[in-house]
Amino acid sequence: MPSYPIHPIKSYIRRERLSATEHTLFNTLFPLYTAPLTGLIVPSLLFKRSAATLIEIGFGAGETLIDTACRYPEWNVLGIEVYRPGIVNVLRIVHSKKLSNLRVIYDDAACVFADRLPKESIQGIQAYFPDPWPKRRHHKRRLFQTPFIPLLAASLEKGGWVQIVTDWEHYAKQISRVFDSAREPWVQMPVPATRNSQIITKFKRRALSAGRSFYELFFEKKPYLSLNI
Ligand SMILES: C[S@@+](CC[C@H](N)C(=O)[O-])C[C@H]1O[C@@H](n2cnc3c(N)ncnc32)[C@H](O)[C@@H]1O
Repeated sequence: MPSYPIHPIKSYIRRERLSATEHTLFNTLFPLYTAPLTGLIVPSLLFKRSAATLIEIGFGAGETLIDTACRYPEWNVLGIEVYRPGIVNVLRIVHSKKLSNLRVIYDDAACVFADRLPKESIQGIQAYFPDPWPKRRHHKRRLFQTPFIPLLAASLEKGGWVQIVTDWEHYAKQISRVFDSAREPWVQMPVPATRNSQIITKFKRRALSAGRSFYELFFEKKPYLSLNI
């Protein structure tokens, strides 16, 4: 696990254990397809090309991340995760499919957005089924809450967007509220048809079998309004 400054939101539980095979894959593929563990991540340098960059936060086993990279070869796609078995799975597929437009960031998303991305360098951010922390006493561990939203805004280009899918109504309402009350001029809008993903992830399957509904949230970052006074 990389070292990083202490951040008020700790939205995940460390699950680092790997089998012997995963361990070998991790050590072999990590240097090839992963962003450096420290310092600024400049997408154009990492991918050796200038292109619109999309980030997925908390990709789990990587189903939607891989699908995004395959569907949009013209995009640079970055996945942030702290779950090592998921990272190994993605690295393995990136290697076998020779996906040159997908790289992994092994770090806490809160820290990455706090100080590891150049300002206004990202076009889109997606998060599928972020940990809902359903118990009331754990709500403080949810990632998408007030301190995190300005960090997302700073990293996004004007006109950039954030798409979040959750199966927890309470979390969906909280997310809408925090974007709504954030200082940045976010506009909530329906999910564009081009952004509808039919991919079934582990957590989507779990939600489907439990009969839970999905809440799809989409926010666009508008340019600041200049006041003529
Ligand atoms: C509920 S799982 C969802 C995984 C995947 N998106 C899916 O739909 O199957 C949430 C994932 O977010 C990751 N996660 C939570 N907080 C994170 C953070 N601050 N930085 C990076 N990853 C995080 C967890 O490790 C976990 O794999």
